[in-house]
Parts: sequence; structure tokens; C-alpha cells
Amino acid sequence: MYGELEESEYDRPGEIDDDIKIMVRLMTIREKIGQMTQLNQDLILTKDGELNTTAVEYYAKNYHVGSYLNQLSSNGVNYNHTAYASILNNIQQISLSVSNDTFKIPIIYGLDHIHGAHYIANSTLFPQGINMAATFNPQLVYEAASITAMETRAAGVHWTFAPVLDIPMNKQWPRVFENFGEDPYLSSVLGKAAIHGYQGKYKTDRSKVAACMKHFIAYGDPWSGQDRDSTVISDRTIYDYLVPNFQTAIDSGVATAMEAYIDINGEPVVASSKYLQQLLRDEMKFKGMLVTDWAEIQHLYTTHKVASSHKEAVRLAIHSTSIDMSMVPSDTTFFDSLVALVEEGLISEQRIDESAERLLQLKKDLGLLDVDNEGWKVESTLLQQVVDSEQKNGRQQTSIDAARQSITLLKNNDNILPFNNNNNNGNNNNGNSSNSQPIKSILVIGPSANDLSHPSGAWTIQWQGATVDRWHGSVEDDQFYSQGVTILEGIRQSASPDIQVRYIEGFDIDGNNTSMDEVLDVIKDYDVVVAAIGEHVYTEVPGNIHDTRLPAGQIKSIEMIAESGKPIVTILVEGRPRILESIVDHSSAILQAYLPGPWGGQAIGEILFGLVNPSGRLPYTYPKHAGDLMLNYWHPVNDVWDPLYEFGHGLSYSKFAYGNISIVNKTDNGDNGIISQGDVKYPILSATQPRTITIPVTNQGPFDGYETVMMYIQQPYRRLTPPAKLLKGFHKVFLESGSTHIVKFDVTADMFAYTGIDNIPHGTIDPGLVHVLVHDRKLELQLLD
Ligand code: BGC
Repeated sequence: MYGELEESEYDRPGEIDDDIKIMVRLMTIREKIGQMTQLNQDLILTKDGELNTTAVEYYAKNYHVGSYLNQLSSNGVNYNHTAYASILNNIQQISLSVSNDTFKIPIIYGLDHIHGAHYIANSTLFPQGINMAATFNPQLVYEAASITAMETRAAGVHWTFAPVLDIPMNKQWPRVFENFGEDPYLSSVLGKAAIHGYQGKYKTDRSKVAACMKHFIAYGDPWSGQDRDSTVISDRTIYDYLVPNFQTAIDSGVATAMEAYIDINGEPVVASSKYLQQLLRDEMKFKGMLVTDWAEIQHLYTTHKVASSHKEAVRLAIHSTSIDMSMVPSDTTFFDSLVALVEEGLISEQRIDESAERLLQLKKDLGLLDVDNEGWKVESTLLQQVVDSEQKNGRQQTSIDAARQSITLLKNNDNILPFNNNNNNGNNNNGNSSNSQPIKSILVIGPSANDLSHPSGAWTIQWQGATVDRWHGSVEDDQFYSQGVTILEGIRQSASPDIQVRYIEGFDIDGNNTSMDEVLDVIKDYDVVVAAIGEHVYTEVPGNIHDTRLPAGQIKSIEMIAESGKPIVTILVEGRPRILESIVDHSSAILQAYLPGPWGGQAIGEILFGLVNPSGRLPYTYPKHAGDLMLNYWHPVNDVWDPLYEFGHGLSYSKFAYGNISIVNKTDNGDNGIISQGDVKYPILSATQPRTITIPVTNQGPFDGYETVMMYIQQPYRRLTPPAKLLKGFHKVFLESGSTHIVKFDVTADMFAYTGIDNIPHGTIDPGLVHVLVHDRKLELQLLD
């Protein structure tokens, strides 16, 4: 799996080296607090995006600033890797030359590269995290992260604020698309793949960057659904559903972490000893570097209202937690306050040393302390050559593959898809043709069909995406508009030349009628309507909504089209599952594209025409009703459950049949470990007796294709209300039409561990009957003490 490394070979943060301890002992308090300070790039850039050398000198000399963040651009157009590296080299040079500090310590630069190196021009943009989750393919996640690391490091940047490991329990939350979905296990597996891809052997491999698991913790669960609103959540839910993926990330060696904007039960995480000291450091054993989210320490005063001044905010956060770096990011209040607090004896020097040590160790591990050789200059130049080489197409191909494997077929009445590409011999996968009648004409409508920004989403070139309809930054960036394939272009590319394809927008992203008369006028001349609808581009607070339904105008327009009697294929381009209302019944087929990136259109075209057999699976539950914001498939079993589509749902053009589940390992006694309960005999499962199961899966055709085989566990009765079921294993397998694959899973007793009535994390396993579920098959086992 992944690259060539064994699990144990991946680097991870460890103990602090002796030379770092000595350095920290010799540094002044101001120098150490400078290392803890991260500022936004706009403090050292002119309005035109030129480096303001006087400002760099000022912050280096007076504040010993240890880190900067955010995109480098000129008039809304991002710099490419060479320009980045040259600006960053200048920052390093100026800072190092003006400072009279005890040691020459370069800055570390951080960027939010969550779906490719999207803040660096001409980089490879990938589908968003939610698509990567829908692929159920850790290999793709690993490859995308490796590419992102290399393209980031080629620009002289050593740190990305990814992967995003929030569990979006609330589906209205505007950041659902950034992470790996609602399931703790899926998010663990993919988070680990991402971390290994970003970091690899980061202590020696200079094409890698430090990853950052974020946002620790419970940020995906605001009760209102609005970004940064509070949550009320039990320790049990945190332990059983929100800790596992972060724990896996720590065990996989993630070098840094970012805390979350949220208040948990009234306690802001940024000032919480419970979450950032006891849980993260003492229990979960995180040894890496911890950064705050944007201005979050100041927010203790300005928004959370638990501190009555900036200084008190700094005291609370630093005193109560193990935060190492404050993403301040717009002034020097953090620095000034913390220096004063140490001078007044309110924060100990030892506390500052702890953070300074972790910060310097990270810089050393990434090669940044190699000041004499200016290692970062050489390595970025070398990497730029690799990035610019012909491999570019290969990297783009990984992005297209990820889009192909993520797009999820939710509905396909009467097998309307794939479209029958009539004369286009061999165009359909495996030479098979579709069941439907040949089509001669397609009317493409909708605001997301002829646009690259909607499928790419936010964090694309700009924080709020490079869109023409909302964001006022420049979209004249050739990394974006010169590449990519819109849905309309993708359809044209995959349709045989004799199929007539016409586009009329019909309505805009807010549902306003732009040309519905024209659509209704010509609709009779077309065999089928493809409607690309969904959401405008957003993230964070600008993406807050008060109604989870799609805009009424979009729903109404689909209704009007349905009246024509023409079949409608709906393509959803959306960052979170918006309520579809009548669109579900009016659509013969629904393709969930999520935010598949700039090449998503190509993948969609290929899927519509059967060049690619869809294999994406929903990484979250799709609610049916507008009031159901908090639907997760692992809901307590007694809760009302009426989703539109369940987590894991996703159709194929092939039919996959599952055989019986078999247990393949004997017990230590050499028997099958069967025990009797009354008249019934069950195989046993216990701490000392794990089981290995197999299940045959057959592709009954007519297409070759991927099938994601998922294994869930279920405990019908236990002391505390059990979850409906829980995913504990999955394998994505490629099966040629007609072939069978035997899929294997391990089942262990600790999969049933939970946080019981005594509140001991994962401390309870209740013996009794348990189920293992794979597709429509069920195995019953007796779980022993
Ligand atoms: C986001 C983080 C991001 C940071 C820096 C914040 O608003 O919550 O995810 O890393 O900004 O851009």
C-alpha cells in the first residue's frame, strides 16, 4: 500500500534533541515568544504583492517573528513556485541578516493546501476532501498528498494546514466538503494516508512538508449548523466518534495540529486544559507542534467573551493549554502581551521553553536550521525542475482519477445511465452498450454546467474560491481557466459526434430565472435534459445558510422542466448535502459530483456515457428533510432514521453479488470456536480470539468496475444505547465483468469497545451477541469477556 515505506519507517515527532534544548536555554524570552508568533503575509507585502523589505526587517528585529502564513499573490493572481521561493528566500535572508538574535532561526511558512497546492499558480488542483472520501481509496489520497507536498515544497513552503479531520455531524455546516466525511474509521484511514503522503520521511526527505491535523476538536458539530457556533456534546461522543481519527493521525506521526474555533459545552477549545492538555497531550500523546486557528486567542476577548482584555486572553490560552504558536495574525498584541505576562511572573519561562523546543525541533526536522548552507534554496530549485517536467500530466491524471472514483451515482431509474452513445463503437466501457435507447440530443442546463469555479469550490486560488458570482478577486489565473474541463465540455468530449449537445443556462445559482423561457421552448427537440445544479462557492462563515433546501428557484425550474415529460439527469455540484425536495422524484438519475475539482467535468462526461463505471460512495448521510441537520449513520439505534440516502450508498452500472461470510481462522484449540447458546450455536469472538472472515464478491456485469466492500459491526444489545452500526473495514476492489474476488477482513473484540457508563475512554466491552455485516450478509458471533 502507498509508497515503498513500511509503516514504521514514516517519520514522526519524538523527543526533543539535546542541541535544541541547549539553544532554547540560551535564547532570550523575546526570541522564544517571537518563535511562537505567526503573522499574516499582508503585514509584509505591499498592496501590489511586492515584498515590503522594511516591514520584514521591522518584524524580524523587534519581534523575532517565527512564522508567516497565507497566499502570495499580486492583484488576486497567485505567484508560481519560483516567485514564491524567491520571495520566501528574501524573507529568510532579510530576517537572518538584520537580527542580532542568539541564533539565526529561519521562519516557517504555512499554507492551507487542502486540495492540492491551490495557493501556488499552475499547481495540480485535486477534488475536495469530501470527494477523496467518496473514492474510498487511500492510495489516491496518499498520491494526491505526495504531489501536493512536492509542489508546496518547490515553492519554499514547509508546512500545509491539512488534512482536515473534522467529523461533520451537522450537515448544514459550511465546511462539510473539506474533510473525509462523517465516519470515524473512513476518516482515520484516509487521514493516515494523507499524512504519510504529505510527510513521508520528512526529517530527511526534502520534498516533504509538515502536515497539520485540524481542527482539534468537535468543530464539525455546531448545534446551529453555523460556522464557529458552539456545540453541546458529551465526552462519550467525543471519545467514541471524534477522537479516533485524530488518534490515528497522531499514531501515524502527524507533525503539527491546529485547534478549533469552537466552544464545547461553553468552554472555548483554545483556552481548554481539558482538550488541549489532558486529552491531546496526556491521553492521546501528541508530541508535535500545536498552532491556534486564525486570531483564536484574541477571540477569547472579542467573540467568546471569556477574557476581558487581549492580555487576559493570552494568559488564559497559554496558561491553560499546550499551544505552541499563535496564528495571531494581524498585529503584535500576542507578542507584547506574552512578553509582559512572563515579565510579571504570570506565565513561567518554563512554559515558554516547552513551546520553543517543539517549534525549533520542527524547524530542525524540516531542514530549516541548516542556515549556513541555506538548504531550502537548493531544494526548492531542484524541486521546481521536477514540478515543471513532463510528469505534470501524470499528476493531473491523479486528480482526474480521483474525480472519476469519487462521483457517486445516487439514483438510476430504468438504467437511463449510461447514455447509449449509439454509433460510438468501443466508446462504452468494456464494449458493452447501455440498456437505454440511443440518444440523439442532450439539452444541458443549470448554473454549474458551464463553469469551473463551482466544481472546484473554495480554497481554490482564493480562500472563497475564484468565482465570478461572489468573490471579487481576480479570476484571471491561468492555473485555473486555462486548464480544467467544465461539465458541458466533458459531455461534449464523451458524446459521439452525432449527438447534438446544446447548453442554455435556464437559471442562476440562486435560482433566478435567466433563460427558462428558452429552455421550455426548445425542450421538445431534445431526448434528455442534463441539469447541473447546486451551490455557489463558499467556506467558513460566508457559507452559513439558514435553510438547507436548495434555492427555491432551482427546485421550481426542475419542476417546470419535468412537466415536459423529458427525462432529467441531475448533477449535484455542492459542498454539503442540500435538501432536494421534488428534484429527487423529478430526476430519472442523480449524480452526486460534490466538488470534484477543475477536471470534474471530464469525469462526469465519461460517467454519463459509460466510459467510466461510477464507483463513488457517499461519505455522509444525505438527509431527506430540511429539519434533519444531525443525521449520521452511526446514530443511536432508537433515533428516528429517515434519510434520503445512507452513508456508503452509491450505484454502479454493474451488479455485484455477495456470497456467504466464512470464518477462515480456527481457534487456538484448533476448532472453530463454536459455543452453544440455548439451541443456537455461535462462533466466538474474544480478546484472545480474533476472527478473520472472507466473503466472495462477483461482478455480474455488464461493466468492469470497482466495488467498495464495507464491513460494519453491530451490537443489538449493550449497556448504553448502541449505534445503529459502525464501519470497521473496507476494501475497494476492481472486478472485471464476470470475475469474483474473495475479500478478507479481520474482526477483533476491541472493535466493540466503547466509552461506557463509567466514562473510561473505550473502556467497556459488553459480552453478548454481535453482528458483522457485509452488504446484505450477516454473521452472528458470541462476544466473550
Ligand atoms: C481556518 C483554518 C485555516 C486558517 C488559515 C481559518 O479561518 O479555519 O482551517 O487553516 O484559517 O487560513
